[in-house]
Amino acid sequence: MAIYLDNAATSYPKPEAVYQAVEDYQRNIGVSPGRGAYQRAIQAEQLVFNTRRALGQLFNISDLSRIIFTANVTEALNLALKGLLGPEDHVITTSIEHNAVWRPLMHLKKERNIRVTRLANPEGCQLDVAELEEVLGPGAELVVVNHASNVTGAIMPLQEIGSLCQEYEVPLLFDSAQTAGVLPIDVEKAGISLLGFTGHKGLLGPTGTGGLYLAPEIELKPLKEGGTGSKSYLETQPEDLPDRYESGTPNTMGLAGLKAGVEYILDRGLDEIRARELQLTEMLLEKLNRLEGCEVYGPGSARERVAVVSFNLASIPAAEAAYVLDEVYDIMVRAGLHCAPVIHRELGLENRGSLRVSPGLFTEKEELDQLEKALEEILAR
Ligand SMILES: Cc1ncc(COP(=O)(O)O)c(C=O)c1O
Repeated sequence: MAIYLDNAATSYPKPEAVYQAVEDYQRNIGVSPGRGAYQRAIQAEQLVFNTRRALGQLFNISDLSRIIFTANVTEALNLALKGLLGPEDHVITTSIEHNAVWRPLMHLKKERNIRVTRLANPEGCQLDVAELEEVLGPGAELVVVNHASNVTGAIMPLQEIGSLCQEYEVPLLFDSAQTAGVLPIDVEKAGISLLGFTGHKGLLGPTGTGGLYLAPEIELKPLKEGGTGSKSYLETQPEDLPDRYESGTPNTMGLAGLKAGVEYILDRGLDEIRARELQLTEMLLEKLNRLEGCEVYGPGSARERVAVVSFNLASIPAAEAAYVLDEVYDIMVRAGLHCAPVIHRELGLENRGSLRVSPGLFTEKEELDQLEKALEEILAR
């Protein structure tokens, strides 16, 4: 039986209700939301609204019109960064950011001459909040932080970062790609101004779904203009939310699945989900630390991580180990830089990359036992 341990890329399998919701929408509704007055169109519109409602409950967002649907968190982060930052603006960020943040920032550096201050994440772990305060002092237009590294799994101190940003009145853009659906995120309590989320990882929905929450004080330039199904007499983009930022026919089939994924999480509860992930992470760390020649990166304690663990096996190239795991043992893991080159550089792994194992909610302990056995054999070759 194939073993899937790449849930940091996308979660698999999904809860049964997600598959059913996608099929039910495609077969029994199937029409465009917000574009027609017939009953089916209203049903489709209701489905999209209920997806917003489930996300609102998960993230404690009361004004659901401030949840903008996008194709993934990459699009959400692009919308946030390109819509918010102006010429010469100063952005503070960290070393664990994904290319979904880095590349737009580097683009804006060239295009708008923005200034980027990058805080260190020593050993791939937490940033020092005192360092953040030092650079916040002289003024900044935005703080962008990844909630948890998709390389080392290290969790950033959301509440402390949010409180500091509120104190200095600097908007906080949070990338929840690795934490939404696993760790509690309360946008109001945490002082988050913009929350980017992706639907297909911890939220257990299909690929092609995600979004951006905008706090009431946040105004962005849209990334695109076009048909919204509303105020069609206007030659310009409507100002109303979410239409201002949501042009074109949405991925309704994906949103139907996302709704089912988020409802599954709400039913099961974040406490139970986190407990399960902690158990698997502890077990995985224990196994890897037992292997002679295995170097694990990031926090030593599972409590400081999400279920993402990167490592190298002695001098065996990561890509080779991943290939053997797949070909010989039918175990799927990821090798390379995981779209996060900066943290690899800080760990001295820019030429080497790492092997990444990320169990998911439905990973069985026996599957980790099989991984351990396979790694032992690869090391002994
Ligand atoms: C921290 C982080 N940010 C952003 C992304 C991009 O996610 P997506 O491909 O869903 O846009 C990922 C996914 O790999 C990630 O781990």
